[in-house]
Amino acid sequence: MFLRIHIISVSFFIGYVLSEDILLPSFIMDTQPLSAQSSFYLCHLHQLKNSNDLFLQGYNIINGAHTGHVHHLLLYECSIKDNLIYSGLCGIYNARLMPSSVYRYCQTRIIIAWARGGQLNYDYPIKTGLKMISSTQLLLEVHFEPSIPHNHSIGIQLRFYPLNEKPQYEVGVLTLGTLANSPLFLPPSLNTISFPTYCFNDCLKGFLKNNLVINMFSILVHAHQRATRIILEKNNNFDRLIDQNPFKFHQQEMIYFHKPYPQINSTNELSLICYYSTQNDHLKGIYGGYDSNNEMCQAFIYYYPKVESFPLCLSLPVYKNKHLMNNKRNWTNKLSLFIKDELESNINHLSLCGDNIYFNQSNKTMLQTKLYQRSMKNFKQYSYVYLRFSSIFYTTITSILLISIIYCYLIINKCLHSFSNGGTL
Ligand SMILES: *[C@@H]1O[C@H](CO)[C@@H](O)[C@H](O)[C@H]1NC(C)=O
Ligand SMILES: *[C@@H]1O[C@H](CO)[C@@H](O)[C@H](O)[C@H]1NC(C)=O
Ligand SMILES: *[C@@H]1O[C@H](CO)[C@@H](O)[C@H](O)[C@H]1NC(C)=O
Ligand SMILES: *[C@@H]1O[C@H](CO)[C@@H](O)[C@H](O)[C@H]1NC(C)=O
Repeated sequence: MFLRIHIISVSFFIGYVLSEDILLPSFIMDTQPLSAQSSFYLCHLHQLKNSNDLFLQGYNIINGAHTGHVHHLLLYECSIKDNLIYSGLCGIYNARLMPSSVYRYCQTRIIIAWARGGQLNYDYPIKTGLKMISSTQLLLEVHFEPSIPHNHSIGIQLRFYPLNEKPQYEVGVLTLGTLANSPLFLPPSLNTISFPTYCFNDCLKGFLKNNLVINMFSILVHAHQRATRIILEKNNNFDRLIDQNPFKFHQQEMIYFHKPYPQINSTNELSLICYYSTQNDHLKGIYGGYDSNNEMCQAFIYYYPKVESFPLCLSLPVYKNKHLMNNKRNWTNKLSLFIKDELESNINHLSLCGDNIYFNQSNKTMLQTKLYQRSMKNFKQYSYVYLRFSSIFYTTITSILLISIIYCYLIINKCLHSFSNGGTL
């Protein structure tokens, strides 16, 4: 019954369809990034031609995404209205191939995020909608696996369902974690390696002004094949918002929060901590990067009301001993452990937040940077505390439940008894 109502409401809202066909031109197949070992990113800019602003109540990803060749799909909104045109390879590694304005203005504001195994249909909560400004430009970025057959063409279609009227709240998307090309290194043969990233309080203080509080209704956490667990915490461990354990690379589904939605205000700080296992890697450590064989640590928070010009809240580790991050060694367990401990004790992080972050192609650095020192964290200790907390919590809940059941039983028994004796309630 519920399903039927849903289908009717969806077909009712079909009024506008944006369809995107990304075809792999054969010339791209001949270039280096498409060698069989590496995955690649393709981008396509789409000009919206609507005369009014649109508010979406949901979207579907119609095809392509279930083929197994697509690793992730992101839709960005460009921050300028300029007639930009681009269709081809993209991502930081290919930044030099893209017009710099496309890179700079169209690769920060993510509005839709999908990764392998995720839901193909998505509805925003009632009273909310994702705004698309009239005649804005959208950049569709698709990460393909190297498994894709040569000269294979995949048409990816996104279908949008606009609302008839302006919703009460506008939806925003905030990207957390770290950049794909940030220094991340996982020594081989280790069971658990942690990698913390932060959305610093300075950023939240700067963007959530006048006691603004945002409501998080959904989140997609994203990492690659070595990731085993991803945690999002508020205020340095005191409030755990999600614990994706185990994290499954082939099943990266959006997590929906229940009402009342978790809130974020200007006094908060967020930590997104990714855990990895390199137990099956013996010869080489794993670097951060775009390829499925490299690692990442990211999360996309869907929230309302939207905060303008706040699409990113990222951090990058700044290692004093960066030379440790290299694979030119004879790996032993002892060496792996030593390097893991050295990297995990890093306390310096660069903060990157806001909208005007971009990559300077000539000196290979990010603009807009602020260095933060974080206090060292003992993750083992925290998980111990967490477990103890949970066991006390569960024991208490179980006891309360048991007592209630016994109490109810006694009361009902008494009531039934008085009923059978002809008494009144
Ligand atoms: C791909 O297609 C082009 C022309 O459409 C053709 O010349 C080329 O041989 C094809 N490559 C493969 C690997 O099939
Ligand atoms: C902000 O959130 C924290 C909990 O994370 C809460 O203790 C605090 O009262 C909130 N502050 C405001 C101004 O809402
Ligand atoms: C790179 O360029 C930026 C300005 O675009 C500058 O702030 C930064 O210091 C430069 N870094 C290096 C290492 O030259
Ligand atoms: C990028 O870095 C170079 C070298 O540091 C600098 O000369 C240039 O101005 C920077 N570009 C921008 C857009 O800041």
